[in-house]
Amino acid sequence: MPTRVCLAGATGWAGSALARGIAETGDLSLVTAVSRTHAGKILGDVLGEPRLSCPIYATAQEALDRQACDVFFDYTKPEAAKANCMAALQHEASVVIGTSGLTDEDLAELGQAAEQKQRGLLAVGNFAITVVLLQKFAEVAARHIAQWEIIDYAHDDKKDAPSGTARELSARLSKIHPSELTVPLDQTQGVVETRGARINGSQIHSVRLPGYNISVEILFGLPDQILSLRHDSGSSAQPYVGGGLLAIRKVGSFVGLRRGLDSVLDLA
Ligand SMILES: NC(=O)c1ccc[n+]([C@@H]2O[C@H](COP(=O)([O-])OP(=O)(O)OC[C@H]3O[C@@H](n4cnc5c(N)ncnc54)[C@H](OP(=O)(O)O)[C@@H]3O)[C@@H](O)[C@H]2O)c1
Repeated sequence: MPTRVCLAGATGWAGSALARGIAETGDLSLVTAVSRTHAGKILGDVLGEPRLSCPIYATAQEALDRQACDVFFDYTKPEAAKANCMAALQHEASVVIGTSGLTDEDLAELGQAAEQKQRGLLAVGNFAITVVLLQKFAEVAARHIAQWEIIDYAHDDKKDAPSGTARELSARLSKIHPSELTVPLDQTQGVVETRGARINGSQIHSVRLPGYNISVEILFGLPDQILSLRHDSGSSAQPYVGGGLLAIRKVGSFVGLRRGLDSVLDLA
């Protein structure tokens, strides 16, 4: 039996690429999709992919009520994602969150619900394998270097800041140690905001300008030397498809919250 998937945001930039990716597989079946503007239509008609015959509903709740699924995947917007994922857990589905902008508190709350329902919840700030590798390399660097800062670059109309990738990176590094500050923030002379936001023990700076796609950079500093790790995304959503499919396949294999694609990958 194929794994039955409900995809919220199936008509969006990331969701439509994932939907087409699911259509290529033999072991996954998209049974429902969510989009307010295309509700009532068949997903394949909207995406021009005849293999996607599932109906589109206006809300996640409606899709979940109409058709059971094994895995709910959210690629919508931060203001909708938490309620969508909570509804999916209440419907006994495992959940993959691709949407960025959820806070650590949101994820902890959803994680508790997942534990109660004995379901998996996988939150992935970035499904691209090259970003997963950047995260791993940064963890290695943080074991040897006390100080770093993160810069997240995105297009001017990206509403959430910092990016999911930057949030996830800071959450991971906080488990190693917080980045040290030579001058504590409260002793900064001038405008303290120019030092960025302190999240999970990292200073994060979000740049939002036309001309950028999505990039993340982490700078590790030691006296007289800087190590820079940077990832630049192209303009298509294709790099996220393979990781999204992997997440769907793996999320049913554990209970509770896991963060990052490497939590279901063996990268050793
Ligand atoms: N984790 C990763 O690797 C990764 C990769 C790419 C993107 N993302 C994140 O994924 C999210 C979606 O990005 P995108 O670029 O695909 O956005 P997008 O092109 O604007 O697509 C958003 C999709 O969600 C639906 N949607 C929007 N608001 C909704 C709501 N309130 N309720 C229900 N459906 C809603 C939209 O359809 P309707 O407007 O018709 O409802 C559309 O299908 C963002 O948070 C982005 O940062 C993450």
